[in-house]
Amino acid sequence: PTTRIFNITVSEIQAAPDGVMRTMLVMNGQFPGPLIRVNEGDRVLVNVTNQLKNGTSMHWHGFFQNGTNWMDGTAGITQCPIPPGTSSLYNFTVENQFGTYWYHSHFSSQYTDGLVGPFIVHSPSEATVRSTYDYDQVILLSDWYHDLSSALLPAYLASGNENAEPLPDSGVIQGTNYFDCSSYDPDSGYICQDNSTRAILPIHPQKRHRLRLINTGAFGEFDVSIDNHTLSVIEADSTLITPVTVHRVPIHIAQRYSVVVNFNQSTSTNYWFRAQMNEHCFSADNPVLDPDVKALISYSNTTSEPTNSIDWTDVLDVTCQDLNTTLLVPLTPISPPKNDLTYQLDISFQIGSYALDKAYINSTTWTPSSTPTLNQAISALSSQNTTLSSSFSTLGLDTTLYSPSGSQFILSIPTLQTVDILLNNFDEGAHPFHLHGHQFWELASGTGNFDWGTAYQGIDTRNPMRRDTLTVDAYGWSLIRFVADNPGLWALHCHISWHMEAGLLMQFQTRADIMKTWTLPADVKGLCST
Ligand code: C2O
Repeated sequence: PTTRIFNITVSEIQAAPDGVMRTMLVMNGQFPGPLIRVNEGDRVLVNVTNQLKNGTSMHWHGFFQNGTNWMDGTAGITQCPIPPGTSSLYNFTVENQFGTYWYHSHFSSQYTDGLVGPFIVHSPSEATVRSTYDYDQVILLSDWYHDLSSALLPAYLASGNENAEPLPDSGVIQGTNYFDCSSYDPDSGYICQDNSTRAILPIHPQKRHRLRLINTGAFGEFDVSIDNHTLSVIEADSTLITPVTVHRVPIHIAQRYSVVVNFNQSTSTNYWFRAQMNEHCFSADNPVLDPDVKALISYSNTTSEPTNSIDWTDVLDVTCQDLNTTLLVPLTPISPPKNDLTYQLDISFQIGSYALDKAYINSTTWTPSSTPTLNQAISALSSQNTTLSSSFSTLGLDTTLYSPSGSQFILSIPTLQTVDILLNNFDEGAHPFHLHGHQFWELASGTGNFDWGTAYQGIDTRNPMRRDTLTVDAYGWSLIRFVADNPGLWALHCHISWHMEAGLLMQFQTRADIMKTWTLPADVKGLCST
């Protein structure tokens, strides 16, 4: 296998991606971070140097990390934060997966300040699909705030705040946009410059482009469309699907879609690429936000704004729902095995015991542990003199490993089992849930009450969609299934930055039978210092 080496230096700068100057975080001076591109089977070495005043970590979103759980990059779960002024080497092999992924800081809400980048894996298994397009392009979409996330968090988590999330001020495509400075009073305190521009997406006329859309934002869902051009969806998260043609793709936080676009329109004009931020997902309006985030599809390599490029007339999604799963049919069919275990996770927001508004999964709200739970699990497993099977009954299959009502809700699936999870949402907001280290099948979703008695009757388990991030509807539910075959501690969480910080995260401990044989590399051990 080829080894690919990348160096990423994380630092803080003053910059104005959309024209409004702020303190933000960048990788190698760039926003978004550098493209990481490898082939399936490659060994990937990423040396992350932390030049911040705080800790950091880097998570490879969607990667299995089979056998390298400690490279997953989740602070408090699989590692301590990388201390300021130090470097840390991520070292893993990309196996049995390919497609569109991304990477981001997994320390507090830090990625929201700019620590995001695309990660693409090519594979010979894509050969047939590859022949359906001529060019391959990555497009990063993100909501954008004019303040550091660490400055926004205290108000959000303050006592009595009814889960009113910080609202995006703007949105960026490829890390840039135009913001209308007249939205701010001159004495608002924001330094606004009129010289920032929308992204320009150069295309080759009469050619087919694969556009890999990645929503790297904190909160906002986008409806993506291109005037006069249809989108042929071929990939969702990293699963290739039977192509389906649509006008718009709704894309929630952390999701990825590849669309093939045939740029066969008149070359005498440019067209708008639209990423309309779905304000129906927000609890309130932000008056400075222009939700019509746009980039220029440039046929002629000119930067002239189109005068008569008109949006499709179909109504925008008002529900924050994913693209209908019935449209998503994996190209390589895999039918899930029957489930061995079933858990119900209830999602809600409540006033917590410290009079902060917190998010709960069952009765637990997450705060990162000062000793990564992976390290805790390894020492718990190695100190047990009992046989493996009796230690399982001690840990209990249907209960949590550590503290069922505390800050670490860990379900232990000690052996190879197939697990069903009902994500049951008692909140008025939709939540994009992500499972680390696995893909899950999306068995069913709906709104209202889930009925265990009849729920399984209508489920077609022949080749359901599989992905790593799905949106659970407001007051709705989703039933997902995964094979717990990947040893380690894996987060399942809402990917909205604010909700993760409010505690909407739980963990699975899987394959303790294998973990029991592990010795962690020395640098993943110990109590976190930052
Ligand atoms: Cu994109 Cu827990 O991660």
